Amino acid sequence: MLNGPNLGRLGTREPEVYGSTTYADLVELCRREAAELGVEVDVRQTDHEGEMLGWLHEAADSGTPVVLNPAAWTHYSIAVRDACSQLTAPLVEVHISNVHKREEFRQHSYISAVADGTILGLGVQGYALALRWIATHPA
Ligand code: DQA
Repeated sequence: MLNGPNLGRLGTREPEVYGSTTYADLVELCRREAAELGVEVDVRQTDHEGEMLGWLHEAADSGTPVVLNPAAWTHYSIAVRDACSQLTAPLVEVHISNVHKREEFRQHSYISAVADGTILGLGVQGYALALRWIATHPA
């Protein structure tokens, strides 16, 4: 589960948009869900695009499924999209907020066209749903 910029600040970051769940709570929720599903999960967050690209290359090379919240990179990073295009196992794009109810610049995702599916607007529960789908659609 890979999280992009500013998601480490969940809980204090615009709680009216992203809710009061902290990033630590999110990690815990994902680990609990994975344990219930009997799958392994590695939850990571970075504010550095190069680090995210490295993690996506690692997933591509190992054939590992990815749940990705690309955060702001969603809307402008062709580099993140190009890295996603190299994945061979399932990719689910997750957004905590419903980006379609928000500003115009959030209406376009560079990632959606190369993802198997997108979950948005369901809060942090979207991550658990994505993991559940991945667990039933092995690579
Ligand atoms: C987000 C939506 C993006 O537009 C924003 O830049 C984020 C978070 C979400 O989870 O709702 O950082 O990906």
